[in-house]
Amino acid sequence: MPDIIRKAVFPAAGLGTRFLPATKASPKEMLPIVDKPMIQYGVEEAVSCGLREIVIVTGKHKRNIEDHFDYAFELEHKLRKSGKHTLLEEINRLCRVNIAYIRQGYALGLGHAISCARPCVNNEPFAVILSDDIIDTDDTLLKDMVSLYKKLKAPILALERVPRQAVHRYGVIDGTPVGKGVYRLNGVVEKPAPERAPSNMAIIGRYILTPDIFDILAKAKPGKGGEIQLTDAIGGLLKKRPVYGYLFKGKRYDAGDKLGYLKATVDFALRNPELAGPFRSFVLDAARGLKH
Ligand code: UTP
Repeated sequence: MPDIIRKAVFPAAGLGTRFLPATKASPKEMLPIVDKPMIQYGVEEAVSCGLREIVIVTGKHKRNIEDHFDYAFELEHKLRKSGKHTLLEEINRLCRVNIAYIRQGYALGLGHAISCARPCVNNEPFAVILSDDIIDTDDTLLKDMVSLYKKLKAPILALERVPRQAVHRYGVIDGTPVGKGVYRLNGVVEKPAPERAPSNMAIIGRYILTPDIFDILAKAKPGKGGEIQLTDAIGGLLKKRPVYGYLFKGKRYDAGDKLGYLKATVDFALRNPELAGPFRSFVLDAARGLKH
């Protein structure tokens, strides 16, 4: 088994019910944060960490994800003719990323979506990126996890401390600190009630997994919400080998949720060179309750 991570799996076949009706016929992963769809931030993050083989697990109504990462001849022609070469290079840069697509026929859960990627991942360790968890572009979470894997040669989950009252939305770990920000897992629970949670360290949308997870997922039974849960499979993995968590202290936006999505949009717009000035004035005026 290679000891470097080359592949990143993007489960993108969920139904996105928290964003209905927007997600009735279009993928949540294509909702834009300012001018880029969410999934593009994740793909750029993976590529910047040296993960050059991308696997996207898609489902129904997800075809425009494929179109987004493909050449668009008519558009290219128009941009070339009007001399918009920078924009042309920006959209074509994406098309040079090596992406394989695989379908998840039914949205049976995150664990099931990952098991669908098996034929593309084979016997290699791989990263999993949930593209609706947007990590600030100044943070190096995935890069740090990829380096840590070289040392630990074991699955690593990104963790974040969340308020106790929010633990029921996450997989939560019980862990023992073994290094700076690194925990060895003793157990893991999916969406616990706050009083039952073993800690407030929640699993967030970046993982390094080893291919032995696939055999466990293949036998997995539906868990919380009737879905095949990745957290349950990680619990199974823990019985066979050490699994680690890496505590993230940077900025993450839960953009799969409306409020998190709006926060990401505002923060990214405030840092966008074209928009920052006028948008800042608008936000300040709106906050002061002034009319526009
Ligand atoms: P979520 O828990 O955010 O579910 O999935 P969802 O269906 O996308 O959205 P809600 O909760 O109904 O609003 C986390 C990630 O796992 C993928 C999603 O696309 C998302 O990237 N996923 C989830 C799948 O690929 N397949 C599934 O069956 C479930």
